[in-house]
Amino acid sequence: MSPDALTVLERCDVLAAVSSSGTGLTRVYLSPEHARVNELAAGWMQQAGMTTWLDAAGNQRGRYEGAEPGAPALLLGSHLDTVPDAGRYDGMLGVLLAIAVVERLNVEGVRLPFAVEVIAFGDEEGTRFGTALLGSRAVAGTWDADWWGLLDAEGVSLRDAFVAFGLDPEAVGDAAPPRDSVIGYLETHIEQGPYLEEADRALAVVSSIAGARRFELTMEGVAGHAGGVPFHRRHDALAGAAEVVLAVERIAREAGCIATVGRLEAFPGGVNVIPGLVEFSLDLRAEHDDRRDEVWAAIEAAAATTCAERGLVFTAHETHSAPAVVASPRLAEAVRGGIVSTGDVEPLTLFSKAGHDAMAIDALTDWAMLFVRCGNGGISHHPDEIVDAADVAVALDAFEATVRELAGPAPSSVGAT
Ligand code: GLV
Ligand code: MN
Ligand code: MN
Repeated sequence: MSPDALTVLERCDVLAAVSSSGTGLTRVYLSPEHARVNELAAGWMQQAGMTTWLDAAGNQRGRYEGAEPGAPALLLGSHLDTVPDAGRYDGMLGVLLAIAVVERLNVEGVRLPFAVEVIAFGDEEGTRFGTALLGSRAVAGTWDADWWGLLDAEGVSLRDAFVAFGLDPEAVGDAAPPRDSVIGYLETHIEQGPYLEEADRALAVVSSIAGARRFELTMEGVAGHAGGVPFHRRHDALAGAAEVVLAVERIAREAGCIATVGRLEAFPGGVNVIPGLVEFSLDLRAEHDDRRDEVWAAIEAAAATTCAERGLVFTAHETHSAPAVVASPRLAEAVRGGIVSTGDVEPLTLFSKAGHDAMAIDALTDWAMLFVRCGNGGISHHPDEIVDAADVAVALDAFEATVRELAGPAPSSVGAT
């Protein structure tokens, strides 16, 4: 029987049970939980008729041969890692829909003029090492040797995490396929925003993905007695950081960009101690890289003003940078055709404010994305993330139709396997 939306949703639930936190869902790159979901994904890939392997960066891969064995491949994928206390569809839905598309081809015995490879990327979110898209950057061939020294919260380096996962750091380049062995990349993902819900549509074509930069920031002042130090003698790092947080929001909003301080910690953290140091994060996004970089310059200027007024020191360390990318018109047209085949004759086109593996894959090959509505106002990076089974069903049909459309009018059939 062809897999349907309920199978996909059941598999999302199975993956959601694999978490490092007792309650909620947290699963990071190169963790035991990552290994477990790779095994689960590999099992479903095999069930769908694929040969499977773990690649040199810990991504789980599967290949369904085309009519001619060894033909270049259309890549389908998304990620299996999560943010802390995540929802169960961000990334996973795209992986499982991709597997289900292949399973449908296999059930019908359809072999396309190209192979289809599914990639379950191991790191898109950057939760463990700060730098995002590690799995997809390995596949894109844009791995940066400077990343080996990145440390997780426990002080484990990326290099040591590779070895502990059974990977050879020296072989990471093997994760990247030769360019002429791929013909494009398609990703289905929940929208992670409210626009589809507001427009009462299930699906959209993605036009482009926002460029992102992430920073680790510090504000340094002087710790002191909360009772003894009068205001005019204070160098309160938290009061200064708070000014910067509000400047981030104001500057980004005025410029039409998106900026978030998602983490902030004051030290030494005593109720009766003036904070001497604050560490905080910044995530900055925009449709156009120039605008995003102007916003960062304005934030730095605002922080300098705060420091001059309060006698503080501000530092910024960039941990992640990914340029804005534009979908391939040819592949986006195929996605549009896939949506049209489900009865939505004028599909919406959306610009993605969220980052996706497609951003990294842009360096390897053409890409396009299909967005699926998520409910509750589009809430995501939150346990309340939700999708409707009917939307998943129509997304599966549209995704399958997109893949078939790229094959041209008459894919050959070799009988059920
Ligand atoms: C990934 O979900 C991101 O946009 O940060
Ligand atoms: Mn995410
Ligand atoms: Mn995602």
